[in-house]
Amino acid sequence: MPLSFIKPKSSPLWKRISSDDSTRLRLKYDTYYHIFERQEGTRVFKDGKEFIMLSSNDYLGLSNHPRIKEAGIQAIKKWGCSTTGARLANGGRIFHQELEEKLADFLGKEACHVFSAGYLACASAVTGFAERKDLILADKNLHSSLWSGIQLSGARCERFAHNNPVHAEEILDDEESANKIFVLEGVYSMEGHIAKLPEFVEIAKKHRAFIVLDDAHGFGVLGKDGRGTADHFGMTDNVDVLCASFSKSLAGAGGFVASSKDAINYMRSHSKQTIFSAALSPASCACAQEALQVMQDEPEHRERLFKNLQRYRGILANLELDTWESETPAIPIVLGEKEKVYYFWKALLEKGIYAIISIAPGVPPGKDLIRTAISASHTDEDLDRIEEAMIYAKSKI
Ligand SMILES: Cc1ncc(COP(=O)(O)O)c(C=O)c1O
Repeated sequence: MPLSFIKPKSSPLWKRISSDDSTRLRLKYDTYYHIFERQEGTRVFKDGKEFIMLSSNDYLGLSNHPRIKEAGIQAIKKWGCSTTGARLANGGRIFHQELEEKLADFLGKEACHVFSAGYLACASAVTGFAERKDLILADKNLHSSLWSGIQLSGARCERFAHNNPVHAEEILDDEESANKIFVLEGVYSMEGHIAKLPEFVEIAKKHRAFIVLDDAHGFGVLGKDGRGTADHFGMTDNVDVLCASFSKSLAGAGGFVASSKDAINYMRSHSKQTIFSAALSPASCACAQEALQVMQDEPEHRERLFKNLQRYRGILANLELDTWESETPAIPIVLGEKEKVYYFWKALLEKGIYAIISIAPGVPPGKDLIRTAISASHTDEDLDRIEEAMIYAKSKI
């Protein structure tokens, strides 16, 4: 029986939790973590109100594709929900191997390893290779998964100005370190910029550096049939390690790292995220594999994506909104001050458009923005409503 008169000593951590400013402000302005009761295509529903989703990364609009859904259902029927453990411990399954072979083949790499989250894949693409004595050269606007990988690797890290190969080379010129590793994104998720890969490859060759490229937002969008940014530049062989997520163009969950056979085997021995995390689920694996096939069988999704993108860009350009020179379907609307961002976002919501706020320190100071992403599944009617809402929101700031 518990002795109710002995009170547990209350940890001071509870004070930190209950007095945290970020959490208090987030809850006050109700900007994130919304829950929708229903979704139909690009429409989501909350408290009886309908919104057009303008911030998810369903670039090819495959999240409701019948072939992909059916593949997931059949995989659960055959294999159950999970393999309940890490592959090192209780083994992978033939469906992991099949997906890895198909991905490697599609990307033009020798081998691949799939993970239960893109975040784990991208962190592993760094921790699997970098170690304490190495020097990492990181674009200062990298995704959090890559920063986690960099920190966990223990390697020394130098940041260079965003997508600026000249600055990266200036840093390298002063460095003697044996192993130099570039960590880049193919398409920067917040800005929509395409990496200046040819310049980085040139520098990497000169300094005998290794390149890790996170192509979460380029995969499915750029290159032949969506092979990604490295393929877009014809530089797949120059990128040592490619990683990406299934949660954008493939409209699923999970991620992969692709490279040579030796490199994937090495990563399987050295990355803790690979060794100690449970395998990708049967349904997620089957959905990713079918989506990869749909991407190749049905080019109309990419065609529609680029048609929608052209119209959407036109809408924002007519309103003279600053899109930070985005070149891809990930399009920020830079407003520069958090108050403006909040009122713009509220006005979009009022008009039934759901987008996401990103403010400093998540973005560089003065770059506070609304992050939007266009999808192949946006209809002409969606785009009409988006246009109307953008005009209204612009009038409010
Ligand atoms: C550039 C980049 N890398 C990695 C990830 C992580 O992928 P996931 O959300 O599928 O875990 C994301 C997702 O936001 C991303 O934008």
